[in-house]
Amino acid sequence: MKCKWKILLCIFIVLILIIVFNFYYQKSLNIPLIVDNRNFQMNSDLYLNSLISNKNKAKILSHNSKIDTSNLGEQEVYVTYKKNFKEAVYKFKINIIDTLAPKIECQKELVTSIGKEIDLLQNVKVYDNSKELIQPVVKGDYNFDQEGNYSLKYEAIDASGNKTEEDFLLKVISLENSYPKIALPSGAKIFVEKSNNGWDIYKINGSFYIDDYLIVNKTYPLAEGFIPKNTYKSAVGVTKQCQDCIDKTVYNAWLDMKHAAEALGLNIWIQSGYRPFQEQNILFERYIQRDGIEQAEKYSSRPGYSEHQTGLSFDLNSIADVFASTKEGKWVSDNAYKYGFIIRFPKGKEDKTGYKYESWHLRYVGSQLATKLYNNGNWISLEEYFGINSKYPL
Ligand code: DAL
Ligand code: ZN
Repeated sequence: MKCKWKILLCIFIVLILIIVFNFYYQKSLNIPLIVDNRNFQMNSDLYLNSLISNKNKAKILSHNSKIDTSNLGEQEVYVTYKKNFKEAVYKFKINIIDTLAPKIECQKELVTSIGKEIDLLQNVKVYDNSKELIQPVVKGDYNFDQEGNYSLKYEAIDASGNKTEEDFLLKVISLENSYPKIALPSGAKIFVEKSNNGWDIYKINGSFYIDDYLIVNKTYPLAEGFIPKNTYKSAVGVTKQCQDCIDKTVYNAWLDMKHAAEALGLNIWIQSGYRPFQEQNILFERYIQRDGIEQAEKYSSRPGYSEHQTGLSFDLNSIADVFASTKEGKWVSDNAYKYGFIIRFPKGKEDKTGYKYESWHLRYVGSQLATKLYNNGNWISLEEYFGINSKYPL
């Protein structure tokens, strides 16, 4: 009898142990375990499931909903789960923080001329995870009235004090000095004749010059076999058109102009740069086939007579009349002179230049002459200025 009681007691104790163990085991299985790191960046994508580390074991009833992370600070999160065959809610706290710095998108270089203020913040964009509107500020000293290269910074700080800085360069240039004439090639100057208004026209190495400017039009062809020297990319042996085979001085002026346009949100690019004799020949023949020689000669040069062979000229964007009325075309017409470029075939000057208006065709002459020819928007052609004709020999 005594032994029977002992057995029953043992069974009873084992049962109790099983029940207690099961109770705690079930409990531990059912409670969702929450991840250790409870700090999350503001406006980051955060889903409930990513907060629960034992979601396979715990019986989670909540949907994997997205958690609102748009407000800084602590917030309570709820998880419904099953406990002892009943629904229960587990509450815990997370913390929304912002330790991410804003991002600044900006031009690395801005160019303007002395006395001409530009809005340094115009095309600066600031992005931040806080989604707040952050106004960037310019740090550093500069003076629009004084020529110089100013190393400045944009600074952006969000409401949590996270700060970003981006360096940029402001170039305040002098129109007089910054875009010089192209140096003359070495070679004897041979006087040819006086122009209609008294300039000396002379030849160097077979090409024509006036006042150190290379002259190319229907009257004055380039020397046979002319290949520009001192180009950004060598033009020697190049038989197809080449955007970068332009004079180094011209190329630098072009980059300044391009960056200045970019700073205003305008996009200009070289559509057609250096064109060797062979390439001009192909183009010219193609236009004759298409439009007949009389029409073709109004807009295309014979090979050897094109400024594109000089490495001093290029066409911008779309080679089409519509360019003149685009934002880019208008800006180029009003600003190219600052960088030493002229609209080589201005509007209404067909009888002087020998060509139709080409709003896209620029020729580098340096800022001094370009400013004169710009003439406050009423472009003067090179032909008028130097008193020369542009007519093919009969
Ligand atoms: N379109 C210009 C005139 C050229 O062919 O050089
Ligand atoms: Zn052109």
